[in-house]
Amino acid sequence: MTEVEAIRQRHSVRSYLDKKIEPETARLLCQMISECNEKGHLHLQFLPEAGGTFHRLLPRAAGLASAPSVIACAGPADASLEERIGYFGEKVVLYAQQLALNTCWCGTFSARNTPVTLAPGEKMPIVIAVGYGADQGRPRRSKTMAQVAGSDGYPPPWFRDGVALALLAPTAINQQKFHFRLCSDGSVLSECGPGPFSRIDLGIARCHFDAALRAVGMKELWGEGGAGSPPSPSGAPISPG
Ligand SMILES: Cc1cc2nc3c(=O)[nH]c(=O)nc-3n(C[C@H](O)[C@H](O)[C@H](O)COP(=O)(O)O)c2cc1C
Repeated sequence: MTEVEAIRQRHSVRSYLDKKIEPETARLLCQMISECNEKGHLHLQFLPEAGGTFHRLLPRAAGLASAPSVIACAGPADASLEERIGYFGEKVVLYAQQLALNTCWCGTFSARNTPVTLAPGEKMPIVIAVGYGADQGRPRRSKTMAQVAGSDGYPPPWFRDGVALALLAPTAINQQKFHFRLCSDGSVLSECGPGPFSRIDLGIARCHFDAALRAVGMKELWGEGGAGSPPSPSGAPISPG
């Protein structure tokens, strides 16, 4: 399964089988997490036992307490932490999908009951439930391309593809409060409106946008250059090939 196929197949899953993640699968997931930690200056952690992470009323009611494991999304508290967590956390989510696992981002978790170790100065704004889904989730309503993107002139296919994949990104309460703009110099600006976790959502949407660029051999906008900051003109996409 390619990354783009994983984007198309992924839905949030809130009901999990009573089955631990197999050791080899967990090893691959941890390998991806450590690559993302290095690139994103983060401290994402795979917690094989979810413990009491989802023991608050809302996630319990949603079914998330059935998730066997968790990815704790933490890192040094700074201005771009949430966007970096969104970007690199979603890379892990898509890889999990490729490993036949299912996931659900969860902001209503219990930090106190999450069996995680944080270093001084680190924050953990969100976690991701992970395991083998009892189902594969389901498609949901989406905003249109015109509602989340604009361009100076007619947009080229790579921009439309990027926005189309961003529209498949998970966002808190499905709010989709991100916006992409293609400027006349070829650079892409992205921003988010107000809303709970909207900066994490923006990072997630950028991750999907970058996947569309990579799929056609173009340079990604946010991944290596430091997710969280708007792309400079020199970071603008180059032509395919
Ligand atoms: C930052 C963030 C926080 C979320 N928090 C929760 C949550 O607390 N509980 C929950 O059931 N789903 C949560 N979700 C999942 C969203 O509800 C879900 O992504 C959205 O409805 C779109 O559905 P999809 O992921 O199937 O595309 C969260 C998603 C994101 C990105």
